[in-house]
Amino acid sequence: MTDEVVRLENISKIYPLLSGDVLALNNISLSIKTGEFVAIIGPSGSGKSTLLNQLGCLDVPTSGDLKIGGKSITQMSDSELTHLRLIMIGFIFQKFNLLPLLSAYENVEYPYTLKYRKRDTSGRVTKLLDMVGINEDLAKHKPSELSGGQQQRVAIARSLVNNPKILLCDEPTGNLDSKTGVLVMNMLKKLNSKGKTLIIVTHDPGIAAQADRTITIRDGELVADVVNNQ
Ligand SMILES: Nc1ncnc2c1ncn2[C@@H]1O[C@H](COP(=O)(O)OP(=O)(O)OP(=O)(O)O)[C@@H](O)[C@H]1O
Ligand SMILES: [Mg+2]
Repeated sequence: MTDEVVRLENISKIYPLLSGDVLALNNISLSIKTGEFVAIIGPSGSGKSTLLNQLGCLDVPTSGDLKIGGKSITQMSDSELTHLRLIMIGFIFQKFNLLPLLSAYENVEYPYTLKYRKRDTSGRVTKLLDMVGINEDLAKHKPSELSGGQQQRVAIARSLVNNPKILLCDEPTGNLDSKTGVLVMNMLKKLNSKGKTLIIVTHDPGIAAQADRTITIRDGELVADVVNNQ
């Protein structure tokens, strides 16, 4: 299938702990197409973040195969994985995860400098900040000098700076009031309508209902995969 952007085959993830192994993902197989909007739901501790971290190559599975953009990641070196992450994947977290000592502008520019080994002189960073409603003055603020909603908008701009194919979001509205959460979701949905693959972990049934498809994880297992009626 040519329009498949992510494929998992029998993925398992074990966290070895002194108190005993934790089987966080148990034999998950899944295929996601370019441009899909997928919600991942399930109880706390069921393995949602673990699954998203595998999809984002922030972590490698214990067994099974994961293909991103048709390429199997299991045999890749650390530097190949880092490169793949930089060009293919944007990550948005519940707690924003901005670098506290950098300004909003520098936070958005940071993945760009990692990819291109130079600062942005094309105006791309400013354009993205503008798109998410962060003006030039706010762009000079450190994350601690911004509201939660502003920080998440900076994080969205950062996730887009290298024009990734896939946006992975772990509870992106979890730390926002409901009105700001709606604004952030509308931004993410607009990006999806322009072709980005959107994968969102959420506790919020209202967000899951907006997705094309809902995947349910329980005790590390994929227990349901349902196409939503729009
Ligand atoms: N780094 C780690 N080391 C050991 N165990 C871990 C680690 N990360 C997660 N786990 C365990 O793996 C299981 C799945 O955790 P995960 O964070 O994926 O759950 P989750 O579905 O995202 O939960 P939540 O909704 O609370 O965020 C849990 O039992 C958790 O304790
Ligand atoms: Mg989680």
